[in-house]
Amino acid sequence: MIFGRTTDAASDSAERILIFSISVLSFIKGMQITNPNEEHKYKVRKLQITDKTKGFLELLQQLTVCDRISDEEFQGRFLELCAHGDDHVIYVIEDDDSGKIIATGTLFIEKKFIRSCGKAGHIEDVVVDSGSRGMHLGKKIIGFLTEHARSMGCYKVTLDCKEENREFYEKCGLEQRGVQMVKYFV
Ligand SMILES: CC(C)(COP(=O)(O)OP(=O)(O)OC[C@H]1O[C@@H](n2cnc3c(N)ncnc32)[C@H](O)[C@@H]1OP(=O)(O)O)[C@@H](O)C(=O)NCCC(=O)NCCS
Repeated sequence: MIFGRTTDAASDSAERILIFSISVLSFIKGMQITNPNEEHKYKVRKLQITDKTKGFLELLQQLTVCDRISDEEFQGRFLELCAHGDDHVIYVIEDDDSGKIIATGTLFIEKKFIRSCGKAGHIEDVVVDSGSRGMHLGKKIIGFLTEHARSMGCYKVTLDCKEENREFYEKCGLEQRGVQMVKYFV
């Protein structure tokens, strides 16, 4: 009971306000990237060599340590990754208005002997710009990465994350399995 129950009329009025508020919230939530213009505005594409000038590294800094690198270093790594073709992809979303990269995620494919020479997809480096979170851009990036893994014939796709992001990945269709182990060298 939000507004108290002093009279039946007051109660009816409170109920109507509550229903109206829920309708408005549902409408706003439904608008998230379902508006055709927004769909166009927030297209997912592969990383391009010019994205260094569009804030790609600054976006990664919101995720973890990402020191400044020279243009030559960026180009060198970019070309190295391109040589892996569809086995190593970095997807991004560019905001057409600002020209900035506002979301990214990586997928690389591990080739195995198990499962009849099966393949597993590994998702890494998922981040959405702090000013653009909550608009389903992260979910969109994960959707592209998982579909890419499926289309490449992977039997699974996995990732490591902090507990605080578990619910986000569950909403993206992944489920918790096992325990993460790590040893850092730097
Ligand atoms: C985690 C992150 C990528 C989510 O991106 P986002 O674009 O804000 O998420 P979305 O809008 O696509 O969220 C999809 C759903 O998950 C929910 N969600 C998002 N982050 C959540 C969180 N941390 N905890 C619980 N739910 C979350 C959203 O509310 C939404 O729910 P809905 O479908 O019911 O509306 C973003 O917060 C981020 O970049 N964080 C910092 C970097 C980071 O931690 N990256 C992950 C490394 S593993």
